[in-house]
Amino acid sequence: MSNAVRKAVFPVGGLGTRFLPATKSMPKEMLPIVDKPLIQHAVEEAQAAGIEEFIFVTGRGKTAIEDHFDRSFELYDLLEERGKKEILAKMSEWLPSAGAVAYTRQQEPLGLGHAVWCARNLVGDEPFAVLLADDLVMADPPCLRQMVDTYGDTGGNLVAVMEVEPEHTSRYGIVDVDSDQGKLVQAKGLVEKPSPVEAPSNLAIIGRYILRPEVFDFLGDAERGAGGEIQLTDALASMLGSTPFFGYRYSGVRYDCGDKVGFLHANVAYALARPDMADDVRTFVRDIAENL
Ligand code: UTP
Repeated sequence: MSNAVRKAVFPVGGLGTRFLPATKSMPKEMLPIVDKPLIQHAVEEAQAAGIEEFIFVTGRGKTAIEDHFDRSFELYDLLEERGKKEILAKMSEWLPSAGAVAYTRQQEPLGLGHAVWCARNLVGDEPFAVLLADDLVMADPPCLRQMVDTYGDTGGNLVAVMEVEPEHTSRYGIVDVDSDQGKLVQAKGLVEKPSPVEAPSNLAIIGRYILRPEVFDFLGDAERGAGGEIQLTDALASMLGSTPFFGYRYSGVRYDCGDKVGFLHANVAYALARPDMADDVRTFVRDIAENL
């Protein structure tokens, strides 16, 4: 099997309870970072990594995501009529081509592992990427690009990792490190959401994965783990005997946009990175900080 990564899965079936009431009738993944929804950031990152097929695992109340990746004729006509050529061009350049997007539904939010398993028939028998839109990584080259470039050499399961504060291990899947080569670590175990005393390290998995298709067999047999959910980390741990697991220390800054404070951090950081806004936002942040 070649190590080419052509397909990406975007699990967007979660309930987003931490963002209620904002997510009562709007998917969490449509929350904007400045003016771009989280899910578009993720799709653009996948495009930059050479992904050709985009598979969304959606759920109830997520149709806004499908509409976002469709052409909106009324809007296009109106922009054309009003001569807004620049905006019009910007509305098209990131749209995947016809037939490149597929949607399937996770009928019940039984966990990330279950969401990925729902994509099994659309992925088939080849390595594939998984991107969690609420993990936003500011990086150049983009995080998944870095990983795809590395995957040619590693194969196996390759997952982005970062060091977290030891008291935060219970928020993440944590790597039990076998060997550490700096950029890459090889795992001998993985634990989902361990307490700080149980955690084998403080090296945490974030929402970028390149996985072997055999993961679907393990997910199909999986039992519910931490939080009563079918956990992707547990399936990857079960695969360790047959498939090597590599943690990849990406270059870049990750924002946890599933968390309110992380989401605000991301908005400020992305606004400061925008030449059209940076000066105003910097002045505002300085003023507000001085008056605290
Ligand atoms: P989270 O753990 O952030 O859960 O999911 P959530 O439901 O989205 O949000 P909260 O905790 O209630 O606020 C991490 C990722 O896994 C997806 C989510 O959409 C998100 O991208 N997910 C989670 C699913 O697709 N299905 C699930 O059953 C659970």
